[in-house]
Amino acid sequence: MEKLLVHGGSRLQGTVTISGSKNSALPIIAATLLTGERCVIRRVPDLSDTNYMVRILATLGADVEMASGNVITSAGKISHQAPYDLVRKMRASVCVLGPLVGRLKQAVVSLPGGCVIGDRPIDLHLRGLEALGAEVEVKGGDVSVFARDGLRGAEINMRGKHGSTVLGTGNVMMAAVLAKGQTVIEGAALEPEVTDLADFLNAMGAKIEGAGTRTIVIEGVDELGGAEHVVIPDRIEAGTFLVAGALIGDDVILENVCSAHMTGLIDFLQQSGHLVKELAGDRLQISSASDLRGNDLVTGPYPEFPTDMQAQVCALCATTPGISVVTETIFPQRFMHVPELNRMGANIRMEDSTAIIKGVERLSAAPVMASDLRASAALVVAGLGAEGTTEVNRLYHIDRGYEDIDDKLQGIGARVERVRQ
Ligand code: EPU
Repeated sequence: MEKLLVHGGSRLQGTVTISGSKNSALPIIAATLLTGERCVIRRVPDLSDTNYMVRILATLGADVEMASGNVITSAGKISHQAPYDLVRKMRASVCVLGPLVGRLKQAVVSLPGGCVIGDRPIDLHLRGLEALGAEVEVKGGDVSVFARDGLRGAEINMRGKHGSTVLGTGNVMMAAVLAKGQTVIEGAALEPEVTDLADFLNAMGAKIEGAGTRTIVIEGVDELGGAEHVVIPDRIEAGTFLVAGALIGDDVILENVCSAHMTGLIDFLQQSGHLVKELAGDRLQISSASDLRGNDLVTGPYPEFPTDMQAQVCALCATTPGISVVTETIFPQRFMHVPELNRMGANIRMEDSTAIIKGVERLSAAPVMASDLRASAALVVAGLGAEGTTEVNRLYHIDRGYEDIDDKLQGIGARVERVRQ
């Protein structure tokens, strides 16, 4: 197992290049199962999650290779059964369900288990597939989906009690592109990753309109062909570097960003007194600021403040003067980082799904335990500003979602070291 030693206190300065989006790349790689022809996906981040997805495709029988940020697939003859050993490692593997049922009319995928950020059901995915005419059976830890007579277009409402579902919208969209007739998805997720997936499916020959709005209309086609696609920039990786720059940067520039995808975070930082500026050429700059104040935020579906940035912003607020109140509405239990931040000297009190953060002058280093991807990013950010050397254990969490995190941090002046335990 590896850990990251974060020697706190170095000011950050320089340019960091943001990778392609993990959460776009995962369903897009799964979508290549919809055709037997060659697909080329560019700017895929080299992460453990994207590597799992590539292995799942290979195990299903596809020819697939990943090198230098490109994933090249040919899914000629494939099986409908995704293996438990691989699927259980990554919740996003559920997004092979839609393409497999769409193309093969059947799919058997292990049910994703609970996850440390909370209960993560897939009822809305299954409700959508059932509306398209599939039969769903959950048995022995697997979910089996059959559509013996093929899928038929339908009107589907994808709203759940926490709002829309990102991967659920993607899954139903991937199943519906090869269904007979028209599908209308109401209450679709607005996230840019859904639009990116729709763009790729349309490049394969699908007929999808309205992605990025609440209503997506899909005219089924008989077959899809190969396509090439470049994945959008990772707004959460970019956001994490922006927060690190806000905490302890003099002048940090992010390149390959789409700032239009980051308004929830940028507005929050600016309202807290941070200096964030858009630069020409898909770049964003964050410069040091002195007049900072506590600020409140509530996470919500896009374009509201992203749940995937909540932990990192808690780390920032821990040393922002005044009181900040952070409320989580998407995954109400996603606060595993709070006890660890408190161990570093933060003053954070929880009330249900709300963190009340009283800014302290400085955090002090401690050995801390990463519990999930974004919590581990928060601990690294906290360590960059803390006094002393913070030891972030269970680094594999961060490698699920941040490409070359140590090199990128070192490139802007952070002193971090990856060591084997
Ligand atoms: N939900 C249901 N039923 C469902 C599906 C979702 O009740 O069938 C609930 C969830 O429990 C949650 C809410 O709906 O309360 C939203 O979940 P969503 O389905 O949108 O999450 P997801 O699609 O499984 C993606 C990202 C997550 C990100 C969420 C929310 C990927 C691979 N994952 O998950 O990313 O937090 O959307 O934006 O795209 C991460 O990258 O660290 C991460 C966890």
